[in-house]
Amino acid sequence: MHVTDSKVDSKLPHLITELPGPKAKKLVERDHHVVSPSYTRDYPLVAKVGRGATVEDVDGNIFLDFAAGIAVVATGHCHPEVVAAIQKQAGELIHMSGTDFYYPSMVELAEKLASIAPGKEPKRVYFGNSGAEAIEAAIKLVKFHTKRDKLIAFHGAFHGRTMGALSLTASRAVQRKGFGTLLSGVFHMPFPDTYRGTYGIRPEHASADCLAYLENELFRRRVDPDEVAGIFIEPIQGEGGYLPAPAEFLQGLQRICRKHGIMLVADEVQSGMGRTGKWWACDYSGIEPDIICTAKGIASGMPLSAMIARASVMNWTPGAHASTFGGNPVCIVASLATIGLLERNYIANAAQMGEFIRGLTADWTTRHKIVGEVRGKGLMIGIEIVRDQKTKERAPDLRNRLVQMAFHKGLLILGSGDTTLRFCPPLLIDEEQAEFAVRTVDACITEIERSM
Ligand SMILES: Cc1ncc(COP(=O)(O)O)c(C=O)c1O
Repeated sequence: MHVTDSKVDSKLPHLITELPGPKAKKLVERDHHVVSPSYTRDYPLVAKVGRGATVEDVDGNIFLDFAAGIAVVATGHCHPEVVAAIQKQAGELIHMSGTDFYYPSMVELAEKLASIAPGKEPKRVYFGNSGAEAIEAAIKLVKFHTKRDKLIAFHGAFHGRTMGALSLTASRAVQRKGFGTLLSGVFHMPFPDTYRGTYGIRPEHASADCLAYLENELFRRRVDPDEVAGIFIEPIQGEGGYLPAPAEFLQGLQRICRKHGIMLVADEVQSGMGRTGKWWACDYSGIEPDIICTAKGIASGMPLSAMIARASVMNWTPGAHASTFGGNPVCIVASLATIGLLERNYIANAAQMGEFIRGLTADWTTRHKIVGEVRGKGLMIGIEIVRDQKTKERAPDLRNRLVQMAFHKGLLILGSGDTTLRFCPPLLIDEEQAEFAVRTVDACITEIERSM
């Protein structure tokens, strides 16, 4: 079902109107009257067709997509194998509800996810529709399993916006403002930020300092570890600025969790499903979380999430938790097709292209005075924008300008955290596309620096 008069199959951007074009402008105006004003659109992209790593807007402009629907379309837009699986399933069975009935594809996907989750112990899988739902399920499971009710999460964390997940989220005050009291018994602690430190954590000792904070401050003064049900961590903070937790920190955290019978929950909603060049970001540290939550890249854009738990941990009883739509058959076949493609090519490609981009940007901190750091794993790459490399002063205005400038050059990127640019393209990009993205951002940075 290719659009014959479209250039969407070209690999690089092609702009034919001013941005936004006339049709996009009209659509944005209509949107502003009827769609929730809580959405945060950075620029007026009005998408019509997506193919691979490119997107065509309603005016016929072609963009290179390094945002991938917020790190979702892992296999690119409308991969033919994913589309074929969806079309076939839609003709056979669209919905049945795995809560009340059985269907083969749900078992198949659960078996597959259980086999790729880290650790030898057998796993069981709960299906939801969104990242937040996977987190909600994990909040409930850790409480049910441990019979404890306190939770720990991290400064800068983003776990979703439903009331439970929001209680763990500590990313931006605006996300919590106006919503009253959230879940009680949630404690936040500093994330091991090896670039900037913060909250008295020394960047060069981030892992040791944060572990010491947990044991010597939090456990001694605020919450007894015997009351803690779970610690939730993004192995690489997504909305918090594409910040990786060091391997030794994750290993230390696991050690502390095991010692106190606390469930370790890895939120791999953004970092999972091959984005980092391994199935899971936590594979880089060798930890075996009790629970992994995943969503975004799991089904190439179809709404699906999974909470994968050690079988002995998932001891809740029938009726304890469920969802009418969770694990919808059409989403599940999209996920099975996605996983096949990830295994065949795209995880390896994510690792390779990530290395390639890191190579191309290796001299950015010396060539550019507003680049503080380029970091990340695979195709989860963060570029820290600062006003001053020495003071590391955040420069959200410059970061935001870069996002806008890139859009006007045909490159779709998003910010993350206060002052980070993120690259989270589909995992199928090639060197030409990676080079284009890097060259474009490089040129935008140079332009900003000349104007400073
Ligand atoms: C790490 C992480 N957890 C949870 C969520 C929430 O996912 P959703 O928006 O699908 O509810 C997100 C979304 O950005 C995320 O990045």
